[in-house]
Amino acid sequence: MIYSRIAGTGSYLPEKVVTNSDLEKIVDTTDQWIQDRTGIKKRHIAADGETTCDLAEKASRNALEAAGITASEIDLVIVATTTPDLIFPSTACLLQQRLGIAGPTAFDIQAVCTGFVYALSIAEKFIKSGSHKRALVVGAETLSRIIDWSDRNTCVLFGDGAGAVIVEASDEPGIIASHLHADGAYESLLRVPVGVSSGFEQMIRGEGYVEMKGSEVFKMAVTTLGRIVDETLASTGLQKSDIDWLIPHQANIRIIKATAKKLRTPMDRVVVTVHDHGNTSAASIPLAFDTAVRDGRIKRGEILMMEAFGGGFTWGSVLLKY
Ligand code: COA
Repeated sequence: MIYSRIAGTGSYLPEKVVTNSDLEKIVDTTDQWIQDRTGIKKRHIAADGETTCDLAEKASRNALEAAGITASEIDLVIVATTTPDLIFPSTACLLQQRLGIAGPTAFDIQAVCTGFVYALSIAEKFIKSGSHKRALVVGAETLSRIIDWSDRNTCVLFGDGAGAVIVEASDEPGIIASHLHADGAYESLLRVPVGVSSGFEQMIRGEGYVEMKGSEVFKMAVTTLGRIVDETLASTGLQKSDIDWLIPHQANIRIIKATAKKLRTPMDRVVVTVHDHGNTSAASIPLAFDTAVRDGRIKRGEILMMEAFGGGFTWGSVLLKY
């Protein structure tokens, strides 16, 4: 049996910080409201000209260093993003060029906030098949580019960032289970209603922004995230008490707390970074993962449950032994 183990993690947040007080100056909101309803204190925003690939490259180099390998040892690059630099080539191909590695399989996947979980699960399937040995899996976003900064319902929630992991073939677990789901029927609750083949003119005029029915998304997220964890545990025979760390998508502290409560996981076993960077979509789980690895909370041999929910709707989980 070929397993996939995490060999190293990395992350990167852009230098520019926008606090809740900064947002008070541009929309009708307060620091208190944002903290009470979301837990977010600040978000990082890419500088003019700084792209998703720039953030992905920095996170990837950190992950390569942590794994103690060079980019030339990578044979699969997957970038999860909803905010690619270009329509094409993919951000994965741009990243591959930056890292100077010609040849390896490289592609983007788009599952919005569930993107990293999708990408990690896909990498594991490539490795398990024996076709690839070592993958660079990245979640990277410049969400700030698709936010209407005059809409207080959305602009307080999102931020930019990137996280990356190196996944390699191993005789021992590794990734134990992953589950991926989607239901396109909920498109209208969370979307950016412009694109290449519909509304391209609006897109190039920069008029396509995140639209969200917040409270409906909230309810769906809480219900679905609890269910996905149960599904994943049931497939492995593990119990809730076997999970050492829950690494949820960092969208909102209230969603995170409600999910942890359903799982009867104490908050001191939940990795929370949403206060520092807001919802960074596909980057949020690898950002949280890397933070907790680097500050020494997550240790080798521990059982981690990653779970995410996002536009689509998409949702999924990865259970792994670190
Ligand atoms: N500052 C101040 N007031 C705000 C505000 C802001 N930034 N945004 C909305 N409000 C107001 C609303 O207009 C509303 O006012 P009203 O009662 O006068 O109509 C009031 O606050 C309550 O709005 P509501 O939408 O019911 O608040 P909520 O408790 O549901 O919190 C969210 C709003 C967006 C924080 C919450 O619904 C949420 O987090 N949803 C999930 C979003 C998410 O995670 N999306 C990504 C999923 S991957």
